[in-house]
Amino acid sequence: MLILAIESSCDDTAAAVLDAVLEADRRVLPRVLSNVVSSQFEVHAQFGGIVPELASRCHIEAIWPVVNQALAEADVSLEDIDLIAATQGPGLVGSLLVGFTFAKAVALVQQIPCTGVDHLTGHLLAILLEKEEERPTFPYTALVVSGGNTSLFAVDSTTAFRLLGRTRDDAAGEAFDKVAKLLGLGYPGGPMVSKLAEQGNPNAIPFPRAWLDKESLDFSFSGLKTSVANYVHKCRQKNNPIPIEDICASFEQAVVDVLVGKTLCAAQQTGHTQVVIGGGVAANNKLRQQLKTRCAEEGLRCFTPSPEYCTDNAAMIGLAGYFQFAIGSTVALDADAFSRSPLN
Ligand code: KG4
Repeated sequence: MLILAIESSCDDTAAAVLDAVLEADRRVLPRVLSNVVSSQFEVHAQFGGIVPELASRCHIEAIWPVVNQALAEADVSLEDIDLIAATQGPGLVGSLLVGFTFAKAVALVQQIPCTGVDHLTGHLLAILLEKEEERPTFPYTALVVSGGNTSLFAVDSTTAFRLLGRTRDDAAGEAFDKVAKLLGLGYPGGPMVSKLAEQGNPNAIPFPRAWLDKESLDFSFSGLKTSVANYVHKCRQKNNPIPIEDICASFEQAVVDVLVGKTLCAAQQTGHTQVVIGGGVAANNKLRQQLKTRCAEEGLRCFTPSPEYCTDNAAMIGLAGYFQFAIGSTVALDADAFSRSPLN
């Protein structure tokens, strides 16, 4: 069966086509035939962050060209599609409504089923888009770390997810973006902060790590962000130069220490021997390297998706939608988008 997948939860309009074998052999996972992402980066960069109303308008302009490109690259037409899967939430409601309503309209016209996908499940399962030898088996412990979410889950199967802990304030990606804005580095901040961090000393400034209670798997990044703001403010007050590279490196190290520490703690609590990461911040090199090293030391296997499957993409939505469809879950035409995930 051919699946058309659509993702529009934030500031990327994405579409993908996947080829799946539904009945014959469930061990054969869907193959990605195309995976197209249109970024609104330039529109929002001038405002230093995402402007929700502009994001919705850009999705409206981009959705049809992006879907057409995904169909063309997969060498199929809309009439060949058997299932449509779209992100139903969480995210910006105006943005979500564009992709989700588009998907339901296509389902109605083509008389095919539509599944509404929780964006978080896409990130949790994105690792299964990799080659067989680079995929975990179930169960595994997963960290979803993006601009909107920082949560730990136990993933028991393709459709069973248990929340272990989540951020009590900012998401890690949000902290990267806010620190970048503070330093005048532009939007999105994560890639720029991590690039500058390569030239800085990660031990130069002792920024705080919020471990919370000893066994807690929750996160908090707002204190760290405030600490960076105070540090920059003091430099300015004293007319001292701002050591941007050292700030980036020390901030990144503080975020990575907590993410890695809590993920290992989660694996210890679940007893799982496999650890997976997903979401935009999972593209961060320091996080990937440190998690791999620490997992190896603890005798755990660590799985990191390739960067294109870390940041928002429709291939992961098609995969999660396929698994949902396989257990009979589809949406009615009056189903609504949701801004908060019931999983979180
Ligand atoms: O998953 P994603 O594409 O969108 C959602 O938030 O759902 O993640 C985007 C976030 C942004 O906050 C961006 O700054 C961050 O991921 N990010 C990074 C890196 N690449 C993207 N953060 C740190 N290091 C990176 N290399």
